[in-house]
Amino acid sequence: MMLIDGKKVSTDLKNELKTRVEELKAKAGCVPGLTVIIVGEDPASQVYVRNKAKSCKETGMNSTVIELPAETSQKELLGKIEALNQDPDVHGILVQQPLPSHIEEYAVTMAIDPSKDVDGFHPENVGQMVLGNLDKCFISCTPFGILELLRRYDIETRGKHCVVVGRSNIVGKPMANLMLQKLRETNCTVTVCHSATQNMPELTRQADILIAAIGRANFITREMVKPGAVVIDVGINRIEDPSRKSGFRLAGDVDFDNVAKMTSAITPVPGGVGPMTIAMLLKNTLQSFARSHNL
Ligand code: GUN
Repeated sequence: MMLIDGKKVSTDLKNELKTRVEELKAKAGCVPGLTVIIVGEDPASQVYVRNKAKSCKETGMNSTVIELPAETSQKELLGKIEALNQDPDVHGILVQQPLPSHIEEYAVTMAIDPSKDVDGFHPENVGQMVLGNLDKCFISCTPFGILELLRRYDIETRGKHCVVVGRSNIVGKPMANLMLQKLRETNCTVTVCHSATQNMPELTRQADILIAAIGRANFITREMVKPGAVVIDVGINRIEDPSRKSGFRLAGDVDFDNVAKMTSAITPVPGGVGPMTIAMLLKNTLQSFARSHNL
C-alpha cells in the first residue's frame, strides 16, 4: 500500500508557485492577489480561511480576508463582490461556503466575475470545464488537487473504472466530469453514486479508483472496496474526541484503519486531499494574474 502524501505534494507545489510568483513579479511589477470573504463564524470555515491566507503569503502573493458578520445582507455582500470585480489588484475572489441561510449561494456565484472565480463555481467556468477547455476556465480546487495527486504519483487511470461517491457541485460533479475527460491523469469509465443509489457496495467494489466525497465519517467500509484499488478520501469530518484538547478529531469518509491495507494507494485524512485544495487555489490565483497581464 502506498500512502499518497498530499502534504508533501502541496509543499512542493507551493514552492514551485513561489518561484513562478517571483518570475512574474519581475515582469509585471506586482504580485497576484486573493481576497477571501467569510460571512459568519462557522469554526471549520474560519480554519480553512486562515490556512488559505497563510499559504497565500508563503508563496509571495497578497492575501486579504474580509470578515463579515452573520447578519450581513445579500445586497451588501453582492456590493462587496462588485467592488472586488472592479479592483485590478484583486485576481482571485473566494466567498467561503457554507453561507448563512438568508444568502442565496447561486446569487453569490453569479456575482463573481468568471475571470476572478478561482473557485471555479461560476457556470461559465463549469461549462468550459465540461467542454474540456481547461485552459479557458478555473477548475474547482478540490477535484483539481486530486488530478494533481494522480498525475504526480503517476497512477494509471486510462480505461480504468472510476467510481465517485457524492454529487456536490464543489466536488462530486466536477470530479466525475474531469475523470471522464481525455487527459493523462483521467480518461476513465465513470460511475457516480449518491444517497439514492441502490446496491452501492456492488458499484463501489467495481472501482479501480474510488473517490469518496460524501461528507460522512468512515462511510466507505472494507466491504465496499476492491482489493488493490486506489482510494481518494475527500472527507474532512469532525468527530467528537474528548481525549483531544479541541474536543474533536478529523476523520475521512473512508474507514482508513480497515480499508488502507487492502488498497494499492490511499490518501490519509488529514494530510491527503485537504492541503492540495489550498495549493490549487493558489495555482488558480496565479493563473488569473498571468491571464490578466497576458503573461
Ligand atoms: N467550503 C468548503 N470548500 C470550499 C471551497 O473549495 N470553496 C469555497 N468557497 N467554500 C468552500
